[in-house]
Amino acid sequence: MSTYTVEDPRKVTTRRLAEMKAKGEKIAMLTAYDYSMARLVDEAGMEVILVGDSASNVMAGNATTLPITLDQMIDYARSVTNGAKRALVVCDMPFGSYQGNPLEALASAIRIMKESNAEAVKLEGGAEIIDSIRRIISAGIPVMGHLGLTPQSINKFGTYAVRAREEAEAEKLISDALLLEEAGCFAVVLEKIPADLATRVSKALSIPTIGIGAGGGCDGQVLVLQDMLGINQGFSPRFLRRYADLATTIKDAIGSYITDVKSSDFPNESEQY
Ligand code: KIV
Repeated sequence: MSTYTVEDPRKVTTRRLAEMKAKGEKIAMLTAYDYSMARLVDEAGMEVILVGDSASNVMAGNATTLPITLDQMIDYARSVTNGAKRALVVCDMPFGSYQGNPLEALASAIRIMKESNAEAVKLEGGAEIIDSIRRIISAGIPVMGHLGLTPQSINKFGTYAVRAREEAEAEKLISDALLLEEAGCFAVVLEKIPADLATRVSKALSIPTIGIGAGGGCDGQVLVLQDMLGINQGFSPRFLRRYADLATTIKDAIGSYITDVKSSDFPNESEQY
């Protein structure tokens, strides 16, 4: 049974998220990559569903987010928009689909919007990609920014450790966040940065910040669905709270099925024609 009751059943829009920030209402965001899960996440009352390029890890089993393609992201996002009715659906732009130049970025974003029905896109980075962000927004496509630990740059970072502990990186992150707001982004994800820095950024911006490993001072929070449901057991960072142990539940159910098949208990009289 869900423990959350939706008070405002209207479709969530970027405008609604701005109102939530203004009123100090926290924003809940989770990832999803398929129709069935998107339906459940949506029906449970989620405000934003992110079709993250973390699909590369949790759906395809890759070590990083780099291999996932634009075609794959569009397929995942299409399945999610088929399942989500109320939540705002944001689709990650995958590595290589926007870094080249603003026109290439725009073409990729347009494909996502036309072919998947997503309502916004998310890009990783600040000043380096600001022209692409401006170009996409000028075409009427809402953009969510993403700063701090940006997994598409893992080969530059060399580690998934906390970012912006040093003053210089923290200052660049703050100036990037202000730039994203000025360019017209409707929200910005802050991933794995010190909580006091995330709080500072959240206070400095009028657009919402959505944190993952960035502490309670953000305007909202996001987690990867498979991680918080305990399906993806091999990943246990400090910021992750597990709300279920579905790996055990699923394996127990599958084990019972195998046992029933082997013992000829399944199917019984009422389960056949
Ligand atoms: O790809 C993803 O799931 C993300 C979230 C972790 C923010 O970018």
